[in-house]
Order: sequence, then C-alpha cells, then structure tokens
Amino acid sequence: MRILALESSCDESAVAVFDAARGLLAHALFSQIELHRVYGGVVPELASRDHVRKLLPLVRTTLADADTLPADLAAVAYTAGPGLIGALLTGAALGRSLAYAWGCPAVAVHHLEGHLLAPLLESEPPPFPHLALLVSGGHTLLIDVVAPGDYRLLGDTRDDAAGEAFDKSAKLLGLPYPGGPQLAALAATATGDAFKFPRPMLDRPGLEFSFSGLKTAVSMAVQAAPLDARRRAEIAASAQAAIVETLVRKSLRALEETGRDALVVAGGVGANQLLRRSLRESVVRLGARVYYPRIEFCTDNAAMIAVAGLARLKSGCVEPLAIRARARWPLTELGPLSSV
Ligand code: KG4
Ligand code: ZN
Repeated sequence: MRILALESSCDESAVAVFDAARGLLAHALFSQIELHRVYGGVVPELASRDHVRKLLPLVRTTLADADTLPADLAAVAYTAGPGLIGALLTGAALGRSLAYAWGCPAVAVHHLEGHLLAPLLESEPPPFPHLALLVSGGHTLLIDVVAPGDYRLLGDTRDDAAGEAFDKSAKLLGLPYPGGPQLAALAATATGDAFKFPRPMLDRPGLEFSFSGLKTAVSMAVQAAPLDARRRAEIAASAQAAIVETLVRKSLRALEETGRDALVVAGGVGANQLLRRSLRESVVRLGARVYYPRIEFCTDNAAMIAVAGLARLKSGCVEPLAIRARARWPLTELGPLSSV
C-alpha cells in the first residue's frame, strides 16, 4: 500500500510518497520563507498563489524520486485543515483532482494528527497510550493520546501559542521572520537569567497556558534601555527560558496527573534544542521517556501527512467527490484509527 501526500496549510509546499511496507520513499519541501520575509509574516494570498505554482512540480519530482507511478498509489492524501483556507484549498483541489484522475481514493488529513503521528517515522516509535505536547505557530496543546485517533484535550493556550510567543518576541528584537529559530540562535549566545520574564499560570493548578504577557514583558525590556548586542541576546535567552520552562513544567504536571510514561513532542517549536534537552532531562527523572520526530519532521512537512493519511485510509476514512478544506477543525472531532 503506497500513498502520495500533499501539505499546503501554511507557508510550506510539501509532497511525500510513503509505502506501508518500506516506509518513506521520498519527500520534498519548498519553503516560502523568502517570499514572506519582507512582510514580517505569512501573507495568505501570496501563500496560496505560490502553492499553486510549486505543488504540481513537486508531485512530479517526488514521484520520480520514489520510483513510483500513479498506478502504484492506493490513495492521495492532502491536508484538509486546520490552516489558512486559501492555502488549504490549493492542496485539497490538487489532491482531490489527482485522486479522481488516477482512479484512487482521496484522504483528507488533519494537520495536527499529522504532527502527532510524525514520531512514527522514527526507528523507535512511541507506545500508545501516551501524552503529547503539540507546540506550533498556531497551537499549544497537551493531549492525552489514549489510542491512535483517540485524542483527549488536557490543556490549551488562552491566547498566544508557544510558536507565536517565540515569533513575536523575535520581532520585538528586530529579528527577521520566521522568528522562532532566529531567536533560539541568538539565545544560544547568552544565559537565560538576566531578565525574569513571567512564567504564566505555573502558580495555579491546571494545564492551561497563556503567553500574551510575555510579549508585553519583552517589549518593556526592549524599550527600557539601548539595545546593544549583549542586551538583545540576554532578552532572547530570557524569553526562550520563560517559554521553555513553562512548557516543561506543564508537561511534567500532565505526566504526573495522567500517570502516562511516554511523552511525544510535536510541532515546529519541538525543533527547539533547549526544549528538547530540558524535557529529555526532566522526563527521565519521572521514570518516563520522551519521543521526538527528527528536526525536519517537527516543522511542517508532507511525510507526517502521508503517515496520518495511510492510517486514515486503513481505517476507511476516504473522501467523497468533494474538495474538503476547513480553516478550523477541532482535533477531538476525529474518530479512532484501526491501526497506525
Ligand atoms: O509546526 P510549524 O512548522 O507550523 C505550524 O503548523 O504552525 O510550526 C512553526 C512554528 C513557528 O512559530 C516557528 O517560529 C516555530 O515553530 N519554530 C521554533 C523553532 N523552529 C520552528 N521555535 C523555537 N525554536 C525553534 N528552533
Ligand atoms: Zn504545523
């Protein structure tokens, strides 16, 4: 069973071919970062237009790299949501049309289920059940993954997502878009204790997050004194320390409350080295283990959409002859998977 997958929910056009027996055969990604950089963030209409330009050529080259013909495919999977609606529609229209033309089913994949299943691409996949920390540009979720496809929401952010907190702090420091990795790189040149930025909601019970106060604190620190190189690095390191400590402490609390012994970290912020290191050290102390996708599969990619698409296909979740795209789509609406 072999599947072609398309990802176009935000600013990466990505395509992958995955085989149930042989694993990932090929994947390719075109990042639109350069296109959006001058605007300091993703411009939805430009993103959609660029997906239209890039997806089909990527499909051609990825099929060739995977030595795969359309007749070899059991299905075409595409990210149907959540995300930017215009961007989603480009991948959904192409995916649905290719499946129709090639006479195979189309599978509409939930982007966050893709992130959650990305660690299955690694040689040591996580066991089920497990706890998941899903941290991306749009989400900060603690999820009890009771079984494949059975997702129970334990905690969410009340305002900004963790990735947004990285990106907004980076912007205040004058770093180019996308700010998260840039802020992390600058932070690596200083210690994170120069500024005591807020660690919101750690002082009360529960698994909710709130990151909007951090950007106010960072903004005040930026304005309080001239921003020389050292001060910039210290603010970056202190902001990163505040975000990472909040994520780590809430994850540990969730592990303790649920009694789960495995933690999956997924989504773009999962690429952050300080977060990876801090979680690995502290989760071990609880007698649990942490699982990550490799860095390139933390951020948006089509390999994870292929894994989720194949699992959905095996569970009989195929789409009728309609183009499905949803800007908002709660993860908890998904039904259980028969296998992964
Ligand atoms: O999962 P993702 O690629 O796209 C969404 O679905 O949102 O996540 C993107 C987010 C951005 O906010 C980006 O700044 C952040 O992940 N990010 C990082 C790092 N790499 C990506 N944040 C902190 N440190 C990183 N190394
Ligand atoms: Zn994502």
